[in-house]
Amino acid sequence: MDLGLKGKAVYVAGASKGLGAATARQFAREGARVAINSRDPIKLAATAADIAAETGSEVVPVPGDVMSAVEVERSVAQAAERLGGLDIMVTNNGGPPPGKFDDLDDAAWQKAIDLQLMSAVRLIRAALPHLRRSAAPAVLTISSVSVKQPLPNLLLSSSIRMAVIGLTKSLALDLGAQGIRFNSILPSFVTTDRIKQLVSDSAQREGISEEEVAKRQAAASALGRAAQPEEFGNVAVFLCSPAASFVTGVMFNFDGGVYKATF
Ligand SMILES: NC(=O)c1ccc[n+]([C@@H]2O[C@H](COP(=O)([O-])OP(=O)(O)OC[C@H]3O[C@@H](n4cnc5c(N)ncnc54)[C@H](OP(=O)(O)O)[C@@H]3O)[C@@H](O)[C@H]2O)c1
Repeated sequence: MDLGLKGKAVYVAGASKGLGAATARQFAREGARVAINSRDPIKLAATAADIAAETGSEVVPVPGDVMSAVEVERSVAQAAERLGGLDIMVTNNGGPPPGKFDDLDDAAWQKAIDLQLMSAVRLIRAALPHLRRSAAPAVLTISSVSVKQPLPNLLLSSSIRMAVIGLTKSLALDLGAQGIRFNSILPSFVTTDRIKQLVSDSAQREGISEEEVAKRQAAASALGRAAQPEEFGNVAVFLCSPAASFVTGVMFNFDGGVYKATF
């Protein structure tokens, strides 16, 4: 199936590694032109060069901290200028730290709001004028299965991401008449540095080995394993593509069956 992504202009936030980088790579493999963002310009430039070399597609690094309103505006403007507009925006960021209620002060909650919610608000706001000029505009927010099934010790993620889901669904309804689609992916355990760090934290806290934690995580899913980033990228790219032109307002579980309810 042709996903219809050849030549499309795409912005992927938080994309020097992990889910963001895998998503950017899949877009580039489909012939899209991609702007990738993260804070570290050196790592970002290396990832952009690597994806461009593998795919032959144009990959532009647009560094910036998604927690900063000014840097988001600058990064998205740079992307739109270099790519001649934007058709697709993928909001993403680093995950908030683990912790239970008693561990988290106001500053930790505020930071999590800036990192997860306000980054999505600002990225979408900066992209909208460009998306409104696109023939097939789409926005994807990367969230977490923790919004459907809170994960142990991840209170900030389980709480604040609910607002990102509310934002995604509301915008799908509000801006559908303008032809702009909004969807979210809710991943569980995809083997990235973030998950490796969480496994290591859990092992230390519980006094067990990392292998035991990873085995327990795998056993929580119906498929009995964690996912690879490329598997995530495939789903992300499909949901954003013209091939998914009638799909909007969907909160897509990407969890191998971790979430057990039918709906
Ligand atoms: N992996 C999973 O299974 C999983 C499951 C559920 C939810 N999630 C969520 O999905 C998101 C991505 O996860 P991941 O596993 O890909 O994480 P990761 O491997 O830690 O990668 C995070 C990426 O975001 C960038 N980043 C971090 N903070 C940023 C900021 N303030 N501004 C701009 N870029 C920033 C990082 O680069 P720099 O350090 O250079 O900025 C990096 O490129 C996270 O929010 C995570 O909590 C992941």
